[in-house]
Amino acid sequence: MRIILLGAPGAGKGTQAQFLMAKFGIPQISTGDMLRAAIKAGTELGQKAKAVMDSGQLVSDELIIGLVKERIAEDDCKAGFLLDGFPRTIPQADAMKENGVAVDSVIEFDVPDEVIVERMAGRRVHAGSGRVYHVVYNPPKEEGKDDETGEELSIRPDDEEATVRKRLGIYHEQTKPLVDYYQAEASSGACSYLTIDGTQPVDEVSALLAKKLG
Ligand code: AP5
Ligand code: ZN
Repeated sequence: MRIILLGAPGAGKGTQAQFLMAKFGIPQISTGDMLRAAIKAGTELGQKAKAVMDSGQLVSDELIIGLVKERIAEDDCKAGFLLDGFPRTIPQADAMKENGVAVDSVIEFDVPDEVIVERMAGRRVHAGSGRVYHVVYNPPKEEGKDDETGEELSIRPDDEEATVRKRLGIYHEQTKPLVDYYQAEASSGACSYLTIDGTQPVDEVSALLAKKLG
């Protein structure tokens, strides 16, 4: 099963990726998490990406395409994968096609911008695993700590309101065109396309996904 999760920053891609990974036994490929890991490790890639990410802009297509190509060639991706945060420009989607990477399902999470701004203000993350929480909507069992490791949770540097608004602008400009792109792919029978109401509570969104994906 090869799935693309499409949706604005904060729409719930990372949150539902946890559910879908468990359901289908496929790995999550989050380009955002990969870049954050590179920043933490101080690699050349991380150094290139940090300022761009902190300011809410997109990292270059060339760099991201190379990163994903390498990742999906790994053994654990043979039975499928879950793309979270990629593709997010038309050139990235075209690169997938040119490389013969077909997908089974594209899932779009529909959430209005104002809901997103509120969500990001309360987001807490576990940097090591990419697990995501919200202080009100999806709290950890113990305040400020990751459920599985007990390690401290942190706030992403790009979750400041002005940066979130900038990321939303870039989403509408550069990523939203992928909705039409993949709906056209679905009409030609290349994949299925699902739109999910992402404003429902976390468990209800998971239940909707389970129902629609079968
Ligand atoms: P990335 O990490 O991919 O960020 P993003 O796409 O902006 O998405 P987010 O991770 O912010 O949101 P999400 O949809 O995963 O929501 P989440 O589940 O966390 O990318 C970061 C940066 O890296 C980019 O800005 C760019 O610079 C660079 N980058 C990455 N990929 C790139 C690419 N392909 N090309 C170029 N550059 C790239 O949920 C958000 C919050 O809401 C959480 O607190 C969560 O608990 C809560 N929540 C989730 N669902 C619900 C719900 N149903 N109800 C209530 N609260 C909920
Ligand atoms: Zn995410």
